[in-house]
Amino acid sequence: MQYSAKVMDHFENPRNVGVLEDANAIGEVGNPRCGDIMKITMRVNEDTDVVEDINFQTFGCGAAIAVSSILTEMVKGKSLEDAIAVGNDDVVAELDGLPSVKVHCSVLGEEGVAAAAKYYYERHPDKTPPEGLEEKIARLAALEEHEESE
Ligand code: FES
Repeated sequence: MQYSAKVMDHFENPRNVGVLEDANAIGEVGNPRCGDIMKITMRVNEDTDVVEDINFQTFGCGAAIAVSSILTEMVKGKSLEDAIAVGNDDVVAELDGLPSVKVHCSVLGEEGVAAAAKYYYERHPDKTPPEGLEEKIARLAALEEHEESE
């Protein structure tokens, strides 16, 4: 299996690893294909809804580590709406590709950010979640069910 230099770099030197103590958006998701889990913690500015900081912790494989690492770099500084719009395709492209058997690992990061955003909006009922958040969560859940039944 051939990994790009970028994947190896993020696997060997993962960025933004850990759990943010002052997080106000938390997402924990599992990968039904392999049972690995991912925890995303974010600090979102409650006035601007910008992701000021983001950490990840995963008991996933090397590809999941590389994906989460680059995802945190792509999401940091974005509005929640733009953060949610980052998909696993974008992450895989940014990593210069992933072997096809490992693409399912890249969904974990995307799911973690969506779950953390949901957590945030549930605790801020005065705010309107970006269009597409519910749709994205439903789509990712359907993907899991599909994989579970494979
Ligand atoms: Fe589980 Fe990659 S094998 S996340």
